[in-house]
Amino acid sequence: MFKVLGVLLALHTATSTKLVCHMTNWAQYRPSSGKFTADHIDPFMCTHVVYALATINSFNQLIATEWNDEEQYKVLHSLRDINPALRTLLSVGGSANGISPFIAMVSKPENRAVFLKSAISFLRKHNFDGLNLDWEFPGQMGSTAADKDRFSGLVEELDQAFFQEARDTKKTQLLLTANVAAFLPTIDSAYDVPKIAPHLDFINVMTYDYHGHWEAQTGHNSPLYRSNHDSGSHLHHNINSSISQWLSLGAPGEKLLLGFSTYGRTYRLQSSDTSLGAPATGAGEAGPFTRTAGFWSYYEVCSFINGATVEWIAEQEVPYATNGGVWVGYDNKQSVTAKVQWMNSNKLGGAHVWTLDMDDFSGLFCSEGAYPLVNHLRNSMGFPPKPTTTPRPTTTKDPITTFCSGRPDGLYENIADKTTYLQCFNGITYLQRCQPGLIYWDPCKCCNYP
Ligand SMILES: *[C@@H]1O[C@H](CO)[C@@H](O)[C@H](O)[C@H]1NC(C)=O
Repeated sequence: MFKVLGVLLALHTATSTKLVCHMTNWAQYRPSSGKFTADHIDPFMCTHVVYALATINSFNQLIATEWNDEEQYKVLHSLRDINPALRTLLSVGGSANGISPFIAMVSKPENRAVFLKSAISFLRKHNFDGLNLDWEFPGQMGSTAADKDRFSGLVEELDQAFFQEARDTKKTQLLLTANVAAFLPTIDSAYDVPKIAPHLDFINVMTYDYHGHWEAQTGHNSPLYRSNHDSGSHLHHNINSSISQWLSLGAPGEKLLLGFSTYGRTYRLQSSDTSLGAPATGAGEAGPFTRTAGFWSYYEVCSFINGATVEWIAEQEVPYATNGGVWVGYDNKQSVTAKVQWMNSNKLGGAHVWTLDMDDFSGLFCSEGAYPLVNHLRNSMGFPPKPTTTPRPTTTKDPITTFCSGRPDGLYENIADKTTYLQCFNGITYLQRCQPGLIYWDPCKCCNYP
């Protein structure tokens, strides 16, 4: 926050624990039971919802990215009719051909001035409570070392502009937040922490994506501590190292929010070794809903662990599951509890979640109710029970029965059980079973020996 009005500042920073939840505007394109829109949000689950993603056009203006964003903003903000305390932020980021739109915008004072103005008018027009900067990352992907200082400048200018606008209009000042890196070398090259931290209301450290199928051995997506397989730069690929670094660079703990991922990262195993650190040959197959190789939402993980072997990595306090040559490191209630304890003992400001749409938001997949992970996070953080609201009528039922809606006729793999497969005909799903001892192979669309 801007430092002119001491009293306002004090009120503004009076810490209450934050639970900041991201939603993505591309989750609406997932098929059937994976489709997520703003009306799926429980108005009492989180203290803040961050709508991802908006971007910056070639005229340095903040703009929407999807055809129906404005409609979804309205739905999101109608949740405040039910819970007036809910705060909403618009996240700005993305890239065009791998280049962040921040690079050109921050490069000249006049470009930044256009952005400040357009951001304020866009946020106010659409009733957001603040802005979330998602530049991944200053100094990387076509950005140069000069962008570290330019990012500090942008953050300071935004804070001043938000302060000025609030004073002029007598409205509550817009919140200013950022999603920031967890890898130590990136933190050091991207951020001048003492310069940016005073101007940000909170800082979402993206404490996930530490390991994935780009590596030749299995590793966990979001471990709390290092494992004995970690050496060299990997020693710091864990939450404890990342947050310690932010704290040691001078970030106030009460502004740091610990990142919780509602997804796991998958590998195809090279041998019969299924342990942590086992040789891997790339990404596990795409899930039927998120449709990205190497990556499963929690609700897709739920289908997989039914029949898989689940192990707990004691030294990292996170689980993995393995079955049929596939390995997934993910988060469950037990690891969420461990991370909340770590968060509390380090006196952080709260948690942020990437994302609401990858938790079992409908409760259809995991038999743990709606939003099992975020709900458990909320309870572990000590939030009071949510007011009871009328449950939203569910229009979709069992995920299997809706699998074929909108899909071409044909045979599909059943991620949850390889001894079966799904046959789509005229939008209707038929669960078919291979002969005993055989499993379904998608390349030949047939059942064969495992
Ligand atoms: C956590 O990080 C701190 C600071 O870097 C370090 O001293 C400590 O050993 C780490 N804890 C574990 C269990 O790795």
